[in-house]
Amino acid sequence: MKSLPIFLDLKGRTALLVGGGAMALPKARLLRAAGAELRIVAQEPDPEFRSWAAEQRTALAERPFRENDLEGVRIVIAAGPDDLCRAVAEAATARQIPVNVVDRPELSSFLMPAIVDRDDVVVAISTHGSAPVLARRLRRTLESQLPARLGPLAAFARRYRRALAAAVTDPTARRRFWEAFFDGPIARDLLSGDDARAGARMLTEINAPGWREAPRGRVALVGAGPGDPELLTLKALRLLQDAEVVVYDKLVGPEILDYARRDAERIYVGKAPGRHSHGQAEIAEILLREARAGKRVVRLKGGDPFVFGRGGEELEALLRQGVEVELVPGITAATGCAAVAGIPLTHRDHASAVTFVSGQGKDGPPDLDWAALATRRHTLAVYMGVASSARLSRELIAHGRDPRTPVAVIERGSLPEERKVFGTLRGLGALIADEKIEAPALIVIGEVVRLAAEAPRDLAGDLALAAAE
Ligand SMILES: C[S@@+](CC[C@H](N)C(=O)[O-])C[C@H]1O[C@@H](n2cnc3c(N)ncnc32)[C@H](O)[C@@H]1O
Repeated sequence: MKSLPIFLDLKGRTALLVGGGAMALPKARLLRAAGAELRIVAQEPDPEFRSWAAEQRTALAERPFRENDLEGVRIVIAAGPDDLCRAVAEAATARQIPVNVVDRPELSSFLMPAIVDRDDVVVAISTHGSAPVLARRLRRTLESQLPARLGPLAAFARRYRRALAAAVTDPTARRRFWEAFFDGPIARDLLSGDDARAGARMLTEINAPGWREAPRGRVALVGAGPGDPELLTLKALRLLQDAEVVVYDKLVGPEILDYARRDAERIYVGKAPGRHSHGQAEIAEILLREARAGKRVVRLKGGDPFVFGRGGEELEALLRQGVEVELVPGITAATGCAAVAGIPLTHRDHASAVTFVSGQGKDGPPDLDWAALATRRHTLAVYMGVASSARLSRELIAHGRDPRTPVAVIERGSLPEERKVFGTLRGLGALIADEKIEAPALIVIGEVVRLAAEAPRDLAGDLALAAAE
């Protein structure tokens, strides 16, 4: 973070504005809206500025800036000629008064954000002067997405805070009340303007006994996708933002964990250097412990929890103990990596079947039906296949797959470090060794690989031939 966003209470405090042109007018309006006592100094104000000041009954000193204008001032904004702004900035800085010079971040000790204003709710956006147009675009997006009556909603919550604190003394139960409130019918009534019905419902809710009971914990088994946070489902995002505890493993990166609530407890259960990896029993134990403590737990797993993710084992353990479980699928590595490589896993001309295969068995090499996997017009998406790639290639060829079948290997697909390499089934082991491919990587085997825009020309050249065969 380049600077700390804070909200300053200016009600009844003096704010000095130096300047009376088109750039100063929006700042004058803003300071006025924040409840500041405005002191304005402008040697030659625009007529529009002058009439605004008269309308607002704001004193406008039509003379040059003087250092003693800074007396008793809480903040200063300057907009005007360069030498004037520089003088104002220097004088304010010498007196340690926060100063902003419009469009001159280098002269400013604080920056003015782009603002979405909904009374009690204010959203401030800053790019630290790097891209004001981007800040304005973000503001426009937020303006269009945030409900107009957000302010009254927040004001309503403020009015009931005390009453609720008296009725529900447990802070966790109170937080849950507010979460249900903002998701539920009372908030909807307020947003649609039915304040009377919201008030009546609120009284009923506050007096309902349910809030005093210990909350019941639950676990959501959530697929996080292959790594790019934009590949999270909306449901995964919502649950992640709502979770009190997030239990995650190695394939879930910080980019995704950033979407969890700041105060959520994060428990890592993957392998760490020099540490044993958590066994399934241990992970189930952690999930049970947290759910029994009444927490909302998200068990976040890379890809889809039920595709080579051992989600099934965790689900069984939780259900056996009577814990409420919600399942949220994720984009699995096969579909995620195929998409980033531009490979359609099936295609009416080239592949009428796709099989997800694990390159690793429970206790060593996988026990696979090689003859079934070696059939033509059949795409294989191989997970955990880096170490066994040479064997994979040998077995498939021995069982009849064409050695010229194209292959793609996608390492860390959808992440910034993503790599894609292409070759043929015959050379798969050597390709992985030469390119020093490391897990996590997904291997795609099949004629469809030729369709990838980045596939080398000699692979693409065989495409028509293969389709015709
Ligand atoms: C234990 S499996 C978990 C699979 C996960 N449940 C899924 O649905 O994608 C781990 C394997 O998934 C594949 N994988 C997961 N994320 C990947 C990524 N971003 N890029 C390439 N392969 C990935 C790799 O083959 C890795 O060895």
